Amino acid sequence: MPHTTALDPLFTALDTAAFTDRHLANLAAGTRAAVRAPDFLDQPTCRAAMAALDRLPRADYDLSRVPTPIIRFGPALNDYRGQDGQLDAEPYWHDAEAARAAWHRAGIRPDPIAVSLAHLAGAWGAAVAPATIGGRAVFGGTLREINAGALVHYDDINREFPGLFDQEIVAQLAFNVWVSVPAAGGATTLWRHRWDPADELHRQAYGYRPQTVTGHQQVSLTPGPGDALLFNPANFHAVEPCPHGRRIAFAFFLGLTTTGQLITWS
Ligand SMILES: [Fe+2]
Repeated sequence: MPHTTALDPLFTALDTAAFTDRHLANLAAGTRAAVRAPDFLDQPTCRAAMAALDRLPRADYDLSRVPTPIIRFGPALNDYRGQDGQLDAEPYWHDAEAARAAWHRAGIRPDPIAVSLAHLAGAWGAAVAPATIGGRAVFGGTLREINAGALVHYDDINREFPGLFDQEIVAQLAFNVWVSVPAAGGATTLWRHRWDPADELHRQAYGYRPQTVTGHQQVSLTPGPGDALLFNPANFHAVEPCPHGRRIAFAFFLGLTTTGQLITWS
């Protein structure tokens, strides 16, 4: 059992008016828990996105596999893992192309994904490009509605799909921006704990039972409407249920590559 009396003074959340390259570097290096930009999207942009939800096709998760219903638009690579652990390429690319077409048809203006990528490119000082597989751009920019919470888990593309992308990734960040938040609940919690083989004793569906993070230092944030959040998803994280109201975020990952580029995927 880890001790909680000696705390890492760097494992804290920071609020900022604008993301910078330093924020990205600190999150990559593990010297910051999270960086939040309140009101990253203004309220007209959030309202435009919410008004467009009905124009986007949405698919429910397979509830026999996932105990918490999460509605989302756009394919995430993790949902296309075949029995052999490899990407189930045919359905993935089919759904990626369909989502791209549906996104353009919906014509959301301002485009919250484009706004977010432009901001991050400005912070990094270089364009943010999609990750590619065999030269083909993967989908980035899912829309997730998480009202029932999400289990404790971590995300690490290098463990999930080793060598999948044409690019080599040395650090992965998670980006979320909320266009609707509930009046109460829905906090995101990050623990100062990264995957250890012993955690496999606590596996539960797509995540882990709470014991896997018991006693570890943690940071909790409750997003406001329009807020954006960056964190390192190698740290275990979870979402608290919100029984009343809709918690809806656009989400993608950022990868810092061996050549210093930022690439994106979902
Ligand atoms: Fe995650």
